[in-house]
Amino acid sequence: MTANISRSSGFLLQRVSAPAVRRWNINARSSIAQSLKRNISTESSSGNATITVLGKEYPTDDFTNLPNSIANLTSRKLHLQPSHPIGILRSLIESRLKDLGFTSYNDFKPVVSTYENFDALGFPEDHPGRSKTDTYYINEKTLLRTHTSAHESECFQTCETPGYLISADVYRRDTIDRTHYPAFHQMEGARVWSRTEHGDNLAKVIQEDLESIPDSGIIVSDPDPPFHEGNPRQPTMSELETELIGKHLKKTIELLMGHVFHQAREAAIKAGSTDPDLFSPIKARWIEAYFPWTSPSWEIEIWWKGEWLEMCGCGVVKHEVLSGAGVGDKIGWAFGIGLERTAMILFGVPDIRLFWSEDERFLSQFKPNTVSTFKPYSKYPGTFRDVAFWCDMAKEVHINDLMEVVRSIGGDLVENVSLIDEFVHPKTKQKSQCYRINYQSMDRSLTNAEINDLQDAVVSSLSTQFPIKIRD
Ligand code: DAH
Repeated sequence: MTANISRSSGFLLQRVSAPAVRRWNINARSSIAQSLKRNISTESSSGNATITVLGKEYPTDDFTNLPNSIANLTSRKLHLQPSHPIGILRSLIESRLKDLGFTSYNDFKPVVSTYENFDALGFPEDHPGRSKTDTYYINEKTLLRTHTSAHESECFQTCETPGYLISADVYRRDTIDRTHYPAFHQMEGARVWSRTEHGDNLAKVIQEDLESIPDSGIIVSDPDPPFHEGNPRQPTMSELETELIGKHLKKTIELLMGHVFHQAREAAIKAGSTDPDLFSPIKARWIEAYFPWTSPSWEIEIWWKGEWLEMCGCGVVKHEVLSGAGVGDKIGWAFGIGLERTAMILFGVPDIRLFWSEDERFLSQFKPNTVSTFKPYSKYPGTFRDVAFWCDMAKEVHINDLMEVVRSIGGDLVENVSLIDEFVHPKTKQKSQCYRINYQSMDRSLTNAEINDLQDAVVSSLSTQFPIKIRD
């Protein structure tokens, strides 16, 4: 289910397991996001409302939906910390690709334009990723990047090696559960060849580069043809070029996956896991995908602890993106990996919130360049509270807007929010929805009184911000 949805949305990489899929459903927009009160704006000297991110002031407008709590995460830079799982994973991947001609960029600022994040990559105007329910906007033209692909164009323009890697924090409004956090990290990778430089030798050069990639040691299933009508070749590239670039891309990603998953497996065995899958070769499969800026496109899935996990989206970069970056004579590929989902597997981290923990009991467990399995220091008990309400069918609350309200009050004390019941009243045609909020702290016990206070605040905030009637 996850894979299907991600393929149709073509813009999704953070999931470790299936529940609560990212809803990038074009019909699911809500005007209610506009009415969410944010308390983020301060008056600038000119009298206009502004918002400050990483020390820089930006004017706000109707699009602004970035809470301070999220803006504050932009200074954390987990991917640059050598002893943090996200930083360790980043350097693990970088070191595997360094000899193959990749430059690493790790300092791009998270505030980008809608042009960089969407337009330069050919996102259609009505793509759900542009929606205010899914994206943190600073103002109409400025946002917190939703993916590292936002920097592809700049890197294609400036990078002097054939390949590059970009690691960075990215931001999306989303549901709240064990595998989702509004900020996470991605690594982008790309590799190009120049027609000007290689002329008629181009295909031969790619072939030779392909043969020089070491074997991944994993078992791969790849049943689809290199391109076809449903996952087409670009007219600017020959059949042979498309096929070779696809093969080079897939072999490089298989190499990375083998590198990461062999280490994950060793760490899991060392930590005492006896899962029989850990003792047979690592299995991967390629499935077709859609991304606005690549064609053909794919995703790789890895078999891990009884399920296929979607690990990385990729494809042959569209000519329009390269020519837009001023390098129309080049052809090549790009990929994007979600670092949290990979690090959760690699380090055995059970809840994504832990990566943001500043608790020494978490941080002290990890050492630079070392993969080790996280040892839970304690699982503090959680408690749930339900909130049920009636709403007009025409004025439904977008789930991401509801999540944002819960997050703004409960912060990292909220482990999970799920819709547990929904029905339409046969007479009034009003819709009833019941959401269950699980409260659980990563580092201490919560008192009942504290949870009740949080829940009361959530309920009152929901009822003032949305056109709903709370059910008793
Ligand atoms: N940006 C995509 C995402 O966030 C991941 C991705 C897919 C990156 C394909 C790429 C690519 O460069 O070619 O879901």
